[in-house]
Amino acid sequence: MKLNKSYFNYGGQGPMSPAALDAILATYQQIQSQGPFGIKTSSLVTQESNLTRQAIALELGISAESIALTENVTVGCNIALWGLNWQPGDRILVSDCEHPGVIASIKEICRRFQVIIDFCPLLATLNTGDSVAVITAHLQPQTRLVVISHVLWNTGQVLPLAEIAASVRQYPHENRQIRILVDAAQSVGLLPLNLSELGIDFYAFTGHKWLCGPEGVGGLYIHPDAMESLAPTFIGWRSLDYSKLELPLINDARRYEVATSAYPLYAGLRAAIAIHQEWGSSIDRASKIVSLATYLWENLQQVPQIKCLNQTAPQSGLVSFQVGSGNHGKLVQALEKEHFYLRTIVDPDCIRACTHYFTTTAEIDELIQCLSRLI
Ligand SMILES: Cc1ncc(COP(=O)(O)O)c(C=O)c1O
Repeated sequence: MKLNKSYFNYGGQGPMSPAALDAILATYQQIQSQGPFGIKTSSLVTQESNLTRQAIALELGISAESIALTENVTVGCNIALWGLNWQPGDRILVSDCEHPGVIASIKEICRRFQVIIDFCPLLATLNTGDSVAVITAHLQPQTRLVVISHVLWNTGQVLPLAEIAASVRQYPHENRQIRILVDAAQSVGLLPLNLSELGIDFYAFTGHKWLCGPEGVGGLYIHPDAMESLAPTFIGWRSLDYSKLELPLINDARRYEVATSAYPLYAGLRAAIAIHQEWGSSIDRASKIVSLATYLWENLQQVPQIKCLNQTAPQSGLVSFQVGSGNHGKLVQALEKEHFYLRTIVDPDCIRACTHYFTTTAEIDELIQCLSRLI
């Protein structure tokens, strides 16, 4: 994807295609021309929401009823975090590779409800070690929730979620099951997914990263068995079942949706998903992403002074590396001046480059040349 830049920040935000932008504009125009508030528009926005949940459901291997549309990953994590019935002394187990926004929310829960946060060291399992064993070893009788990412945003490591879920499920508990919340910021649109096979409770994702949709549309998957344990923290007219006189909460994940949103963005996300599906299956897309990341990883190692965090070929589209003598911030700035878009990561101190399935080997070659020149 080279127009006026070489873009390697898909884990931050994916670029929108003209088709996605057109779909957003066309939907805004339609709503404005038929009247932004009226019976016709009301049924249009309901249809937009339903179609969008269905399109996402197909990508994630789940039913549309188990998806609540949100604005981003963090809102989805917050719905899961704040909706559980916290008791003083409960514990939350979190990996040491989680995003600061999610950690901040967990810390506030700990402060308000006298809950204890435990960290488990997954960063150290990138090249050696067993993430399943590390997580299991850090569970305690009071652990109520495990919070982990599917793909670690700092190193690109892919966690074996099914094995982790099976191991957590086996941990003895009296009557309160340990729930699992997954931060899916870096997995949706990157990995082929069949969530119904994973055995996790909550999976929070966004459309604006690997799916290349607009910023402002994401979602939360809630396993049907976990719904009863998750009270909606924010409630609004969208949460209610209008087919019943008493207006109860809707009996599916829509109960976690609240009120008015920028509905035309939903059409943009669906257009973005359609483009990916046209290109190939989720398995083919993931395999291309990983093969391009591997090409990048192999070539980075040919540059003197560069050390990739991964000692073996990457499992995702995220490739993180350190420069022996360098100030990573300065190098990223210098790269951007030359139209190469990468980012720094604070912990571990490194630079992260992402490949999508439409990244070209020519772009990667040019990045390597530019890096060799600048270091
Ligand atoms: C792992 C992870 N979690 C959460 C976020 C925040 O995403 P959002 O802005 O969609 O809430 C990011 C963004 O980079 C991320 O990488």
